[in-house]
Amino acid sequence: MKKYNKGILVLSVFLSALFTVNAQDGAKLFKQNCAACHKIDKKSIGPKLEGAKAKWEEAGEAEMLYEWIANPNDLYESGKSKMAVAVWDFSPAAMSPMAHLSKEEVDAIFDYVDNPPAPVVVEEPKGEENVVADSTPAPTPMSNGTLVFLLSIIGFLIIALLVIVNGVKALKNQGRENQIEYDEEGFGFLTKSVAIENEDSILLDHDYDGIKELDNVLPPWWVWMFYGTIIFSVIYWGMYQTFKVWPLQEEAYVMEMAQSEKDVYEYKKANNLLISAETVTFLTEESEIAAGKELYDGTCKVCHMADGEGSVGPNLTDKYWLYGGTAGDIFTSISEGRPNGMPEHKSKFNEKQIQQLASFIHSLDFKEGKAPEGDLMK
Ligand code: HEC
Ligand code: HEC
Repeated sequence: MKKYNKGILVLSVFLSALFTVNAQDGAKLFKQNCAACHKIDKKSIGPKLEGAKAKWEEAGEAEMLYEWIANPNDLYESGKSKMAVAVWDFSPAAMSPMAHLSKEEVDAIFDYVDNPPAPVVVEEPKGEENVVADSTPAPTPMSNGTLVFLLSIIGFLIIALLVIVNGVKALKNQGRENQIEYDEEGFGFLTKSVAIENEDSILLDHDYDGIKELDNVLPPWWVWMFYGTIIFSVIYWGMYQTFKVWPLQEEAYVMEMAQSEKDVYEYKKANNLLISAETVTFLTEESEIAAGKELYDGTCKVCHMADGEGSVGPNLTDKYWLYGGTAGDIFTSISEGRPNGMPEHKSKFNEKQIQQLASFIHSLDFKEGKAPEGDLMK
């Protein structure tokens, strides 16, 4: 192996070591592993995590917390942890084992959880002079990412230098190069292959018991593709990871979700569908009531009967309501469903249609039917 090749090897080992030095990022680990089930400051699927570590430490179970994260079920079954037993029935859902997390990573998560970033305060817009003064960014210390990136660029330049030096040497050997007759036919220019008749020109002097060595060059298409991957990786790394010019997958996802939420909002606004349980009112126009009746006959009649007198579902014409008789209550009953057999309908009807249904029910005259259920509403 020639000397400069060794240099490249050492450098690339050095570079790949740099790649792996990555600050523990509690926020990121939390998002990746825990955020699906835990909120920091309030319960969701799992209990809130703020202060949880302190709780376990107080109970003398600081070490067992790691075991809990690694495998909640095992720790619970072992019966040795009071904390695990105490929290076990919090939810019928089970916490997934996270044995891939190291102690340092778990610590980083709890560091983050117990010192969450201060909430972003939206400030009043300032007077004009202040805005101008504030817009000059304060000098920030170089981040870890930028440092690693710059070091790698330096490494990259050194490699480039070596390649150039190599190239110059090769040029000096041109005398020999010129004697080589590359196969120019077909795709020869892409492979720099040497026709069998001309192989003598690339035969090295080595002769091991009659076995000789051909000094074939790497095909140019391969070499250029290889350089291409290096250039690609530098651009990719810089744009995505270090300078964050382009969004990472996760950010792109959040952005797209935000955009689609906006789109849905715009769509609803444009189509008069911005109706919610808080804002809904009973419609009184004939046409709306008729539209409500049509939907009712198609979907609700089976359980509430044609005139709303009730069978499987309660009587909708009396003044007694299980879940309230205001426009908002009825809207919610229809769109979200109710626990004892009332299906949700928001996946079937849009807001306008649910409003029409509620209005139709409201317009119904009292009809003797199923006995009153729920509370009397005026
Ligand atoms: C799949 C959902 C899920 C994920 C993911 C999850 N947890 Fe949990 N976690 C739970 C549930 C549910 C409980 C309550 C125990 C139970 O009901 O079995 C819990 C309990 C805990 C407790 C005990 C809380 C207390 O008050 O004693 C800690 C600590 C905890 N989780 C930490 C974590 C950490 C750290 C992560 C991420 C590395 C994580 N959890 C990921 C669902 C989850
Ligand atoms: C599969 C049967 C079924 C269908 C279909 C059904 N409901 Fe119901 N509905 C019920 C039952 C049962 C309840 C009582 C739920 C409870 O007690 O938790 C109910 C409750 C309600 C309530 C609340 C009544 C109160 O007293 O608070 C309203 C309003 C209502 N339904 C409207 C509708 C409308 C409108 C439709 C059609 C879009 C519909 N339901 C379709 C079975 C049904």
